[in-house]
Amino acid sequence: MTDATTQSAAPATTTGDEWWRSAVIYQIYPRSFADASGDGIGDLAGIAARLPQVAELGVDAIWLSPFYRSPQKDAGYDVSDYRDVDPIFGTLDDFDRMLDKAHELGLRVIVDLVPNHSSDQHAWFQEALAAGPGSQARTRYIFRDGKGVDGELPPNNWQSVFGGPAWTRVPDGQWYLHLFDASQPDFDWDNPEVGDMFVDVLRFWLDRGVDGFRVDVAHGNAKAAGLPDVDAEMAEAGSMESPYFGQEHVHEIYRRWHTVLEEYEGDRVLCAEAWVSPLEKMARFVRPDEMHQAFNFVYLETPWDAKRLRPVIDESIEVFGAVGAPPTWVLSNHDTIRHRTRLALVPPPPHGAGIGPTSISKADPVVSLRRGRAATALMLALPGGAYLYQGEELGLPEVTAIDALQRQDPTFARTQGELWGRDGCRVPIPWEADAPAYGFNDSGASWLPQPAEWARLARDAQEGVAGSTLEMYRRALALREQFGLARGTLEWLDVGPTALAFRNGDVTVVANLGHDAVDVPRGEILLTSSPLDAASLSADDVVWVRTV
Ligand code: GLC
Repeated sequence: MTDATTQSAAPATTTGDEWWRSAVIYQIYPRSFADASGDGIGDLAGIAARLPQVAELGVDAIWLSPFYRSPQKDAGYDVSDYRDVDPIFGTLDDFDRMLDKAHELGLRVIVDLVPNHSSDQHAWFQEALAAGPGSQARTRYIFRDGKGVDGELPPNNWQSVFGGPAWTRVPDGQWYLHLFDASQPDFDWDNPEVGDMFVDVLRFWLDRGVDGFRVDVAHGNAKAAGLPDVDAEMAEAGSMESPYFGQEHVHEIYRRWHTVLEEYEGDRVLCAEAWVSPLEKMARFVRPDEMHQAFNFVYLETPWDAKRLRPVIDESIEVFGAVGAPPTWVLSNHDTIRHRTRLALVPPPPHGAGIGPTSISKADPVVSLRRGRAATALMLALPGGAYLYQGEELGLPEVTAIDALQRQDPTFARTQGELWGRDGCRVPIPWEADAPAYGFNDSGASWLPQPAEWARLARDAQEGVAGSTLEMYRRALALREQFGLARGTLEWLDVGPTALAFRNGDVTVVANLGHDAVDVPRGEILLTSSPLDAASLSADDVVWVRTV
């Protein structure tokens, strides 16, 4: 077991001016971004063609969700070949062309790496099935005999994140572990072959020129020795502690990866998708000899409430700073209800449940757009890195009107529809108001239905339109750069219990999260999250003022 305190004292191998410390990274979800082939699923050629518009937004990098060979049982997070592109997304040549184009435009490219599990169609898993119990091939995954008289009960009580048991029995009687879908068997990271294979995968993509990796389920690779049962009481109480998430020895994996990235030119980056809390535990992933960034999910999960947000912001800056890493901020991604909708839902649904056509949680469309934009304006003024998810710059809401037959997230099927899943944030995004599939492709096909109201939200309907969400994002990103906000420091100002106000260098930011109007500080108004009609800020408004 490694001691957290000793590790954080390790010598820093960073200089402090690396690009990722201040970067805004834009997440592209390849299936839903742009579809050059017209089959209704986005692809790499589509992404390449739309990259200039990403660059124009003013972001520094893109992160692509998986485009590897995959049976697509979990939208590509079930990888059957880590070194190839799935035909639905194109070819390795398409990837290289997309990468070159991004680099020409000054955008760095981060790819997704899925090391906790593979697809059940991966050659290793197929080999393990064929080789049978006791074989070397089975030790790359987590096969066990079951409990009960004839081994008819799963080896322990672990549940899949997508619902149902985390174990599936194979015809010879053994069980294999899958923390996600049954088509996603977990690797056994105690087997050194697994670690070696992933180092080769890292090199494969680093050699091609990628600028880094977003590491999927980074908290999950290492399991507690003996695979003990989950403590039911702790799980009931919502504890994130578990024998399969956030185990201390998981960090050894990333120390090794750090050394691999160090061999390469440029500042290559590792970003942890680690759903652990408290924040101090998350920050362990970004100690100086491990990863570089971690998504701040504690921030993402904090409701639109001044009293709750302020301590989370403070603690994030403190705990990441204590290990020499920048804080990062994120509000939306392909796994969560789009923040434009989420922050206004009444009542708030349980985390991870999603929303659908019959959910009791509803968001008023006017309030939600206003609040979503305000939340972004607040986030982009904070020091550190930030992540945006495709379509949030258009103010897209979560889509609820997707019927059962169209839903593709395994969560929906594994819970017999009890959890709606994540399809509602994955609908192909609108580019052109009057084109088929809103310019997602030329054919009009779309793997998930696009709502009729999205014509108004299409990018070309917002471009150059004063006050549009797109123009607000652009302006915020330009000002963030101009005033060096990402590398600044935050100094709180007193403004009452339901608002937040701080200075970051020459910029004063005021956010009204309550109902009472709040005064706008004197100075040059740089940005407003919604049109400002007076010298006071209404509910769900944010303003940036130059106050020197
Ligand atoms: C991560 C991904 C999610 C995926 C899961 C299993 O949480 O972001 O989309 O379903 O891992 O790979």
